[in-house]
This record gives sequence, C-alpha cells and structure tokens, in this order.
Amino acid sequence: MAQRSNFGSKIGVVLAAAGSAVGLGNVWRFPTEVGNNGGAAFILIYLACVLLIGIPVMVSEFVIGRHTHANTITAYRKLAPGTWWRIGGIEGVFVAFLIFCYYIVVSGWTLHYTVASFLNRLSTNQDYKAYFSDFVSSPWEPVAYAVVFMLMVHLIIVRGVQNGIEKFSKLMMPALLLIIAILVICSFSMTGFTEGMKFMLHPEFSKVTPDVVLSAVGQAFYSLSLAMGCLCTYASYFDSKTNLMKTAFSVSVIDTCVAILCGFIIFPAVFSVPGVEANEGPGLVFITLPHVFNIAFHNVPIIGYLFSSLFYLLLMLSALTSAISLHEPVTAYIHEEWHLSRHRAAWLVTVSCMLLGVVCSLSMGVWNGFQIGGLCIFELFDFISAKVILPLGGIIIALFVGWKLSRKLVYDEVTNRNTLRIPLFRIYLFLIRWIAPLAIAVIFVNELIKG
Ligand code: PHE
Repeated sequence: MAQRSNFGSKIGVVLAAAGSAVGLGNVWRFPTEVGNNGGAAFILIYLACVLLIGIPVMVSEFVIGRHTHANTITAYRKLAPGTWWRIGGIEGVFVAFLIFCYYIVVSGWTLHYTVASFLNRLSTNQDYKAYFSDFVSSPWEPVAYAVVFMLMVHLIIVRGVQNGIEKFSKLMMPALLLIIAILVICSFSMTGFTEGMKFMLHPEFSKVTPDVVLSAVGQAFYSLSLAMGCLCTYASYFDSKTNLMKTAFSVSVIDTCVAILCGFIIFPAVFSVPGVEANEGPGLVFITLPHVFNIAFHNVPIIGYLFSSLFYLLLMLSALTSAISLHEPVTAYIHEEWHLSRHRAAWLVTVSCMLLGVVCSLSMGVWNGFQIGGLCIFELFDFISAKVILPLGGIIIALFVGWKLSRKLVYDEVTNRNTLRIPLFRIYLFLIRWIAPLAIAVIFVNELIKG
C-alpha cells in the first residue's frame, strides 16, 4: 500500500486541529451560551470542563489515531480486534457524516451572509427576522449556498493532507486571528463596550444550576470537536515526534481564547443597542447582529459595513476549516477500507452529503411539514448526533483508552516511547478513567430525560 500521508510540520498539526475546533461553536454558540447561563460564571465552569474533561478526551483520541496511523474505524479494529469496541470507530465516522450533512447547511447560511454583507445588502434598515426566515425557507437559495460551500470543502480535501488540509489551515488560521483582532479593537470604541465587558466578566453564581454545568460540558465537546472521529483521524497523520499532550493544550488554548474573544466582539455590540438582549438565542448571529451592526455604527456606515463583512467572513472561514475536518474521517475511511482512490472517496462523500444536506435544508422550508417525533429532518440530525451519539462516543473513548488499552501502550504514546517527560500522565489517566466517563454519563442521562 502506498505510504500514508503525514502533516509536514508541528505548526501545521496545531493549526489543522485548531481549525477543526474553531468554528460556529466559538463564534455563535459560545456567546449564546454565555448570555444564557450567567456570564463569567459559565466561562469559569467551561474552563474547568475543558481542563478536566476536554483535554483528556482529546489526548485519548490522539493516542488512538497516532498509534494506529489509520482511519478511525480501522484504528479501533486494530487496537481491539474482534470485539465490540469497534463500535467506537463506527460511531466516530458515522456521527461525523451526520453532523456534516447539517453543518454545511448552516455554513451555507454564513456564506450567504458574507456575500450579502459585502454587497451591502444587510445595511439598509430592514426586518432582519423576515430576511432570515425568507432566506432559510426559500426552496433553492440556501441549497445553492450549501452546495457551493460543499464544493469549496471538496476542493481542499482532494488536495490531500499536506497540500490541502495543512496548507489551507496554515493560511486560514492566521487570517482568522487577524480578523478577530481587528474586530476586538473596533469593539473598544463601541458605546456598549464597558457594559458588555461587565456582563461577560462579572460572574453571577446565583445563575449556576446543574443544567448550566451540563451545558458547559456539552459546549466543550462540541467546540473542541471531540468524539466525532475528526481529531482521531487528524492524529493518524501525526508523526512519531508530535507531543500529544502539548498539542492538545495548544489546540484547547487557541479554541478557548477565540471563543472568549468572540464574546469581546459580540457583547459590546449587543449592549450598544438599547432593547437588544444578550441572550437572544440561536437567532443571535443571523437576526440580532445585522440589526446591531447597523445601528451601532449608524454614524459611520462605512465602519459598520466593514465590521459586518469581516464578521461574516470570519464566521464562514471558521466553518470551512471545521467542515474539512468533518469530511476527512469519512473520506479516509472509504479511501482506505473500500480501496477507492482518495479522489473517488472524496466525491462519494461530497455527493452523498450534498444530497442529505439538501434534504436538511429543505426540511427548514418547503418540507417542514414532514416531521418525526416533532422534529424536522434538520433538527432530527442535530438531536441524534449531538444529543445521543456524541455523548455515547465520548464515554466509549474514555473507557477504551482508560480501561481497555494497556497502560503501557497509552504511556508510550503520550511520552513518545519514554522520550518526553510528562509529569501530568497520572492525572490524565485518573481523569480519563473516572471523571470523564462519569461526567459524560450524567449529561447523557440528563439530556435524554429532558429531551
Ligand atoms: N468544533 C467545531 C465548532 O466549534 C464544530 C465541529 C464539531 C467541527 C465536530 C468538526 C467536528 O464549530
């Protein structure tokens, strides 16, 4: 078999994994969660979740991927041949596929908003709620944007690991950080800056309930791209010198900083406009923010135009680097296991996701009448993947690496065959054996009871 590709540089490894992690979850979901769950109190709990559960699970995915140098399904099979543990691998690839199908729909919306803001269509004072719902429920517009977005993902994936994913991430991540820096600086000058910061940095512990803790764990999993086969597949392209623990820390630090900086952009903007609440929910990015950008900068419309164009560009690019990491686990599996060329495998994934993506997109509009259990197809995909399969996958990863794999194998992998000193190894093992599976099990049961 031809030699398997690897990432070519350390920075490429970190930026590709960070590209997967930084996405709609940071720019859109994180500020919404902070707004709903008590500002800084949520942020503190979120940080604890990243440290105690997120990083250990990420290191574990790295261990599985790097040790086997194989796609996620083959990886589990190699590590525990002939056992039920292979469900872990199947789960990873399957859930990446499912999430991908609706992630591209929302990504298509971000593409539309980028185009619309560059064409200055968002700035004329209008009813943004109607604008959004007209767009989403139109039979062809969101489908067309999702298809274009999907083709962009496809073009990157077919170029391979080093020339596609790595090169693109090395280009995009610095660009993203630059856009964030510009937007943060702009937000200093907003009238709502002090109030926005106060809201974000003042912890309201009275709002902390078990539900808030559960939301923080869920957010950490989603934002760090855990349990979806993505990071496990990326790790299969790491070379033997990559420091797994350090990489997991770097990725988590980048992801968390980006999330918090996005709060620095969004809250000052939201507090600059009277009557707009910080906890607007999912409509925040597509309904509230265009309105906010429009009003907050009405004295200097050109800045409003630039601010909103850059913001939606940021959102779209972050979705793009995440989307490629959802495409890759499925493509790698089909390429390696079904013995198709990488090109054909990628086309197969692209076309089948597009078809399902179209169904998801139409289910928000013309096909909304078709519902299963009160959910349209889009919501159903989201529910099954995020609420059911993901937590199960998290538990499987934690149990698999914590209990099934030998301590020696895990130790060798984390310390690069005893060439690195990793003083935190014992703490990592304790977290992955006990804390992660128990914490995730609690979320899972709770979500199911609520759901
Ligand atoms: N982590 C991404 C985000 O924050 C979402 C994602 C999940 C991407 C799983 C890839 C895989 O938006």
